[in-house]
Amino acid sequence: MAEIATLILEFIKCVVPPTQSCVDNHRNFKENAKDLEDKLSTLNCKKVDVETQLLNEVCSEKQAKKEVEKWVQDVEKINAEIQDVLKRVHSASYFSRARLGKLAREKIDVLDAILQRGNFPEGLVLNKPAISLPIPVEDLEGEDTVKEEILGYLKGNEVPMIGVCGIGGVGKTTIMKHIHNELLLMESRFDNVIWVTVSYPLNVVRLQHEIAERMNESFLENEDEQSLASRLMQIMGKVKYVLILDDVWQRFTLKDVGIPSPTKENGCKIVITSRKVDVCQFLGCEIVKVSPLSEEESLNLFLDKVGRDILQNQELGEILKLMVKECAGLPLAVVVIAGSMIGVTDVHQWRHALNELRERLRAIVEGSEDQIFERLKFSYDRLQDSKTQNCFLSCSLYAEDYQIRKENLVKQWIDEGLVEELGSRRAMLDKGWTILNKLENSCLLEKGHSEAFIKLHDVVRDMALRISPQFMVKARMRLTEIPDKHEWAENLEKVSLMQNEISDIPLNMCPNCPILTTLMLQGNRALSQIPDCFFANMQGLKCLNLSETSIESLPHSICNLENLTTLLLQNCRQLKHVPFLAKLKALKKLDLCEARIEVAPEGIDMLVNLQYLDLWCPKLVELSTQLLSNLSYLQHLIVYYKSTTLKIKGEEVRGLKKLETFQAQLYDLQDFNNYVKSNHFKRLSNYQLVVGQVEEDFDPSINLSKVISLGECEIGGEDSVVLPDDVEELWIYRFRNFKSLSDIYSLQKTAELRRCFVTECEEIGCVVDMVTSSSSFINNLERLCLDKLPNLSVVANVEGVEATSPYIFSNLKSFGMWECSTMKRLFSFELLQGLQNLEEITVQNCQQMEEIIGWEGEEENHTADATTTTTTFTLPKLRELNLQNLPELKRICPTRGVMVCDSLQLLQIVECPKLRRIPLVGNVRPSPHAALKKIYIKPKELWESLEWDDPSAKNVLQPSVYFL
Ligand SMILES: *[C@@H]1O[C@H](CO)[C@@H](O)[C@H](O)[C@H]1NC(C)=O
Ligand SMILES: *[C@@H]1O[C@H](CO)[C@@H](O)[C@H](O)[C@H]1NC(C)=O
Ligand SMILES: *[C@@H]1O[C@H](CO)[C@@H](O)[C@H](O)[C@H]1NC(C)=O
Ligand SMILES: *[C@@H]1O[C@H](CO)[C@@H](O)[C@H](O)[C@H]1NC(C)=O
Repeated sequence: MAEIATLILEFIKCVVPPTQSCVDNHRNFKENAKDLEDKLSTLNCKKVDVETQLLNEVCSEKQAKKEVEKWVQDVEKINAEIQDVLKRVHSASYFSRARLGKLAREKIDVLDAILQRGNFPEGLVLNKPAISLPIPVEDLEGEDTVKEEILGYLKGNEVPMIGVCGIGGVGKTTIMKHIHNELLLMESRFDNVIWVTVSYPLNVVRLQHEIAERMNESFLENEDEQSLASRLMQIMGKVKYVLILDDVWQRFTLKDVGIPSPTKENGCKIVITSRKVDVCQFLGCEIVKVSPLSEEESLNLFLDKVGRDILQNQELGEILKLMVKECAGLPLAVVVIAGSMIGVTDVHQWRHALNELRERLRAIVEGSEDQIFERLKFSYDRLQDSKTQNCFLSCSLYAEDYQIRKENLVKQWIDEGLVEELGSRRAMLDKGWTILNKLENSCLLEKGHSEAFIKLHDVVRDMALRISPQFMVKARMRLTEIPDKHEWAENLEKVSLMQNEISDIPLNMCPNCPILTTLMLQGNRALSQIPDCFFANMQGLKCLNLSETSIESLPHSICNLENLTTLLLQNCRQLKHVPFLAKLKALKKLDLCEARIEVAPEGIDMLVNLQYLDLWCPKLVELSTQLLSNLSYLQHLIVYYKSTTLKIKGEEVRGLKKLETFQAQLYDLQDFNNYVKSNHFKRLSNYQLVVGQVEEDFDPSINLSKVISLGECEIGGEDSVVLPDDVEELWIYRFRNFKSLSDIYSLQKTAELRRCFVTECEEIGCVVDMVTSSSSFINNLERLCLDKLPNLSVVANVEGVEATSPYIFSNLKSFGMWECSTMKRLFSFELLQGLQNLEEITVQNCQQMEEIIGWEGEEENHTADATTTTTTFTLPKLRELNLQNLPELKRICPTRGVMVCDSLQLLQIVECPKLRRIPLVGNVRPSPHAALKKIYIKPKELWESLEWDDPSAKNVLQPSVYFL
């Protein structure tokens, strides 16, 4: 604000008449010069912050964003300029002052602009582009000759374009993935190895965007094909690329896309995989044919899947070999058919399967596309169970080559009603995962690029779509318009238009699809309106996904979808109006997460079948009482809890006997206590309960599922806070009348507390008081964070407590303290004994902190004892020690002590002007195992004045030092 004010002031100054302005420039000369210096120093501080953050965040998977790199360069450039201006300013004569004053002011504006650009709310780093990463791929069985042939062309100079041809499922893509990964290792041969999956139908604009993305470039969304082509031509013209276009179906010309022709001279290469030889010939490729596997190779691959033990049964082995023959050497068929036989050991069953397979293939012309289709279909049919089959088919609603997140897929199956009703959400999720595993084991689903994903082989997906002619799938195809009326056939059952760029739907678009059950429109981010009649003739609709669109309201025709069970509106951040929903009697799931609504949709209370309600709506003002009382089947209830008015009465929730997940703000502490006393929480597998305001940084960990946050409460008396005994994470914020965690009697009964955050509590003097209570709960703690506790004087009061009592904090891994202004000693020697699992210590902005570890009592007393032995303090697991802004810090440990921290990797000492001695021994020796890798120091001079107990340390560690 202040900056804007100065800018406005400057602006006003600028519009006054010239002579006046000249006088002002004189008058303001000094001020301007001073401002300029200040601004520059602010900017440089920011740069240091940005660079520090980069240092921490850049890793093998993440790189700095281009804009961030550019900004840092700009700062460096402007520094030189400003230094120059300042030099002139300091030696300026009276007459040049007016001009220089003006110049200074101009530069201030420039600095302001750079400063503003220096906020990177979206973060500083991004994932490195896929280009540099190998593609995960199964082992290659056979096909070595083909691979070598292609590699030969790529390494040689004669053949610039290669067309890898063969029928679907023969393994073209697999071979190319192996080649892609090998090319990455041959770094010097090509600048860029670019992989793009093309698929049917060819979309030139999408292809252009994808090639650009792989080259770290991004194009604007609305550029036309021709201008994209000329820009792409320029970008690609500068590098020696190898471009792999996988799964090409249609002819195109390189020029139309913007790909410079590869030639002997430029050394670039293009490889195309296609089922169609004529497409490759059209482009002028040297054709490499991928032939089917030999029988022996097929057998090997088959046995890899079903296990070699099977050959021990001779009769079975014979049948198996016949079956392998029927796979026609198509690796995909081998894998999928083998997958369908895993675990079958009965000879009759094998023989039966073989006969069935032969029967199906009798009518097939070898070499046609049907050849693979029938073999895959065989495997699909062998799933037998129609639920599993439907789950499989519904995977084809995603775009080709799409990495499907397993968790979402399982939820989707539940939402589509493909998993039978099982009474609890947990049970249904388990069932869904079981189906997923079955499909993965049968090899109909492939592993994705990491454990959390799966994908569908494009040929398998073709098969799925061929089995389901009632599906219309046009996912992620850069459609800007919704398909024409005539495409919405009356017999459609599922439609997926997800992740396109459809921005509006014509007003007269009212598809007549009476048996449509699933409609996926999610991810059309520009879609802001849906015509009123759109759903009027979709009476059978059960699952509707409008998530991640920009709709502002829902069309009225939605109100009559009496069979709708799932309505998904996640991340519809523009959604303000939801019509009367009471007629959606079948609705089980309503997800409004992040919607902009201010009032709860009318009629929710009538949706008696609702099981899943997500009202994480930041603008929602309140919920009427009794809203929940009819919803007795609710399993999952989430209500935004960071608002001051949106609260739920614990009483109302107590009636929800099926609830498993519950996140909300309860009315007040009293209400919370009563709720906990009712023991309803024991039904929950997952809760986040809030009372009062949450702390700004409130950020419950995802791994822990039972979280309580209590803010702005007054405590007093034994019964003042009643906590669930299974709470795993506790946040305490602005408590009044609160001296120590030990005051909370019910904490003593908790047994699972892992993380505890205490913030802005005026009165707290010690975190735990071992003198007044046993406080055994702290022994489970793994993370303890203390922030803004102005009266805190000790972490644990252990005075006079038997030394034999079990060490406390024995599971603590991470400890942080910020702005505890009266703390002088972080840990006493006694306390340290317990901290043997500590991995991370952070202490920041504590004005009076003098020592990290110290004796109980005065340091002098202990040194005066003149005990000749040194005491060794060990923190065997400590990885990070982070000390920042501690103006009084004198010691890390007592003068007569040394520290052994053999796991220490990171040491940060920033603005601790009185610290001299680093009492570390052991870890700093020049051994390959020395763990200490990074030392951050500020200011630079501090490094010179630090004294290390280990005399060689300073030299050895020099290369690991970074100055902030
Ligand atoms: C993309 O940028 C990163 C780092 O800026 C670089 O390592 C990589 O080689 C670039 N890729 C291409 C294709 O230019
Ligand atoms: C709905 O769309 C969201 C956002 O793209 C996605 O995360 C979710 O899995 C989809 N659910 C279903 C049932 O389609
Ligand atoms: C709604 O579902 C019921 C039961 O599944 C079915 O009988 C009815 O035909 C459906 N209504 C429409 C309009 O499809
Ligand atoms: C739901 O509750 C309201 C009162 O909040 C009541 O009028 C209505 O009849 C209830 N509906 C059902 C189906 O029980």
